[in-house]
Amino acid sequence: MNEIEQLKEQLQKQEKLASLGLLSAGIAHEIQNPLNFVINFSKMTNKLLDDLTAVVEDNADHMPESDREDLYDIVADIKENMTQIKENGERAVSIIQGILLVSRGKENEFLPSDICHIVKEYTHLSYHAMRANYQGFNVTIHEQYQDNMPQMMVIPQDLSRAVLNVMNNACYAVWRKAQEIGNDYTPEISINVATQDNNLVISITDNGEGMSDEVQQRLFENFFTTKPIGHGTGLGMSITRDIIENKHGGKLTFNTTLGQGTTFTFTIPIKK
Ligand SMILES: Nc1ncnc2c1ncn2[C@@H]1O[C@H](COP(=O)(O)OP(=O)(O)OP(=O)(O)O)[C@@H](O)[C@H]1O
Ligand SMILES: [Mg+2]
Repeated sequence: MNEIEQLKEQLQKQEKLASLGLLSAGIAHEIQNPLNFVINFSKMTNKLLDDLTAVVEDNADHMPESDREDLYDIVADIKENMTQIKENGERAVSIIQGILLVSRGKENEFLPSDICHIVKEYTHLSYHAMRANYQGFNVTIHEQYQDNMPQMMVIPQDLSRAVLNVMNNACYAVWRKAQEIGNDYTPEISINVATQDNNLVISITDNGEGMSDEVQQRLFENFFTTKPIGHGTGLGMSITRDIIENKHGGKLTFNTTLGQGTTFTFTIPIKK
């Protein structure tokens, strides 16, 4: 009975998460429009500044040299600001596209995808979510993406969830270790994306608390978690293994040393 009660509670939590997912997809969609305004108006303002410069040039004779110089400097600064606004707006759009991808893509659909982009977006999302939720959390992230990687056929919404799950765990592991040892410790996470033979290889390495033998054995069990209530459902790794091994026909492997850290590696055969 006790176990049934616990499972019920877990299901309710999952249900809540699912509706939160829907909600965030809705929010993402709604934010896209105002963001487009921001981007388009900054582009337009940049053009207007060109017009303004032209007008000043046409009337250069009526203006003292030093005033003209000042005006050009100011225009250059405003243009630079507009470019910043546009670029950051575009970055926000790309994050939102990522979120929409997760909640909207068709079930199990393989699509040509920019793997490095997916890994980057989702590891960063995870990092920022951790920063928002865990006081004082920080970590140095090292990223290595193979140059000019062609698009690859994956189920992007699933692969991104897998990356998010592993990155969440890595962040949590370094956070826990930081709580334990404090100052003498520099939390670090390394992310590596490359092709090797005919495989896509994605690995995420943390120098966090590592896993005991018991945790290693139970890692993929549904609802196995060592986290306090509300911090983990114990589904992340079983979902991740399903995504990598069953859906993508790949391998999920790990290497861990208690107290030293953990590496999770996805090895996915490249689909032609
Ligand atoms: N990188 C890691 N370092 C240390 N322990 C880990 C790491 N990844 C997973 N674990 C251990 O494996 C357990 C199960 O992980 P899993 O992702 O399945 O569940 P969870 O993180 O507890 O909850 P959630 O469903 O929210 O992901 C974790 O509770 C943790 O003890
Ligand atoms: Mg997890």
